[in-house]
Amino acid sequence: MNTWPLELKEIRKTFKDGEKMVDVLHSLSFKAERGKLTAVLGPSGSGKSTFLSIAGALLSPDEGEMLVNGHDIASLSDKQKSEVRLHSIGYIFQSSNLVPYLKVIEQLKLPAELAGKWNGDTKRRAEELLKSVGLENRADHYSYQLSGGEKQRVAIARAFMNDADIILADEPTASLDSGRSIDIIKLISKIVKEKQKAAVMVTHDETILHLCDNIYEMNDGRLEKRK
Ligand SMILES: Nc1ncnc2c1ncn2[C@@H]1O[C@H](COP(=O)(O)OP(=O)(O)OP(=O)(O)O)[C@@H](O)[C@H]1O
Ligand SMILES: [Mg+2]
Repeated sequence: MNTWPLELKEIRKTFKDGEKMVDVLHSLSFKAERGKLTAVLGPSGSGKSTFLSIAGALLSPDEGEMLVNGHDIASLSDKQKSEVRLHSIGYIFQSSNLVPYLKVIEQLKLPAELAGKWNGDTKRRAEELLKSVGLENRADHYSYQLSGGEKQRVAIARAFMNDADIILADEPTASLDSGRSIDIIKLISKIVKEKQKAAVMVTHDETILHLCDNIYEMNDGRLEKRK
């Protein structure tokens, strides 16, 4: 049987808004393929971040299944879920979310250390990733010494550090100018293809869509395939 790195089956999510319940996701199903960069577009409030939080095991659905490499994670304890997040999922956010008082190399060391995997091999991996994002000369800089685009490139390298099968990004280019955005997406796409990762990115940026393998549109909590 073919297992997908990430599969959501008939997910439903409702939030309470004062007295009334708001249905945000309705019976949403989705599969992420290895080696493919998938974009999710859609209007503000349509449920994109909610979808990504569920896909990233940061939020539990009310109904439906969320499978990582074929395993349903609903039955896992909180500790087991955080293990899945640490080992199987890399996150890239709108703002890079770097730790302010750590050097660039230490930003990459952190997830490896948390996973108990900081050794000669992962140190080389960190150096290789920094090189692939063009920051090999910034390893000893603190994050406040970096530009916005450089910080975002560190965040990308960090997301790939634990060799996670799934990479999730919520508007990773929102704080960048258009030329920079294209460079960043090309970079994510290159690593996704080289390392055969499954990447899902929420974006409002139409100028980067030609670099994406699959395109979905979210409307009122329903996902439709556009490409
Ligand atoms: N924790 C929450 N409690 C209550 N309502 C929520 C919560 N999180 C999201 N919502 C509501 O769910 C809907 C979808 O929100 P979501 O953040 O997924 O939208 P989005 O598509 O990411 O929008 P944007 O493009 O503005 O980031 C919105 O109406 C929002 O107000
Ligand atoms: Mg959002």
